[in-house]
Amino acid sequence: MKVLGVIGGTGIDQLDGLQIVDNHAIETPYGDPSRLIQEGRLGDTRLFFLQRHGSPRAIPPHLINYRANLWALRSQGVTDIVAVNAVGGITDAMRPGKLVIPDQLIDYTWGREHTIDSGENDTLMHIDFTEPYDRELRQRLLDIASGQAIAHAAAGVLGVKQGPRLETAAEIRRMANDGCDLVGMTGMPEASLAREMGLAYASVCMVVNAAAGLDDAPLTLDAMRATLQREAAVVRQLLAALAAT
Ligand code: HPA
Repeated sequence: MKVLGVIGGTGIDQLDGLQIVDNHAIETPYGDPSRLIQEGRLGDTRLFFLQRHGSPRAIPPHLINYRANLWALRSQGVTDIVAVNAVGGITDAMRPGKLVIPDQLIDYTWGREHTIDSGENDTLMHIDFTEPYDRELRQRLLDIASGQAIAHAAAGVLGVKQGPRLETAAEIRRMANDGCDLVGMTGMPEASLAREMGLAYASVCMVVNAAAGLDDAPLTLDAMRATLQREAAVVRQLLAALAAT
């Protein structure tokens, strides 16, 4: 049986409509997750929700304990994870307000605890990461978005940067040359750790700003939050419909 977990990003602190039945404080071999894991019901579906930046404290992307977060979700029986990411848009179609279900990523992060391979096992964890997102879960999201007439881009390459600073204009030009459509800070190592742990994982990205150098508007957190507040309802609609399937 599939059990759904949702990892909320900036702007998704809670899941509207989630009737919380329990809060789990989970100890993991990797330390503490970002926050208590909420167990609840969305409609008839039981699901688990975790805010990766914690709350009320805001854990920056490079200090998130991705391993503990995923381990904790799996310990509750979660099999499928939908991650929500606020991102900058690089290519023309990726305007603020756009919802994207990415199909690929490029990892530019460094110095993060990025594997559960401790080197002490008999087998090496050379996971197949050709398709970084779970094909079936991604397809479910695409079908639901289409079925609910939720405007979305059905593919895109997410470049994951270290942060917490935003990029220079030249870095964004380089990322565009690399083939990135989107830029964010939290997509990795979350996606590859999920694969290592045998979890189906897909991402829903919300474009909250034009990436550095692509727009005259200054990049401010307030402007990003304002876009997020307008668009978060669509993400919630998608998640609610997913939970109902
Ligand atoms: N760059 C990196 N991460 C982000 C951005 C951005 O422009 N917007 C939201 N997350």
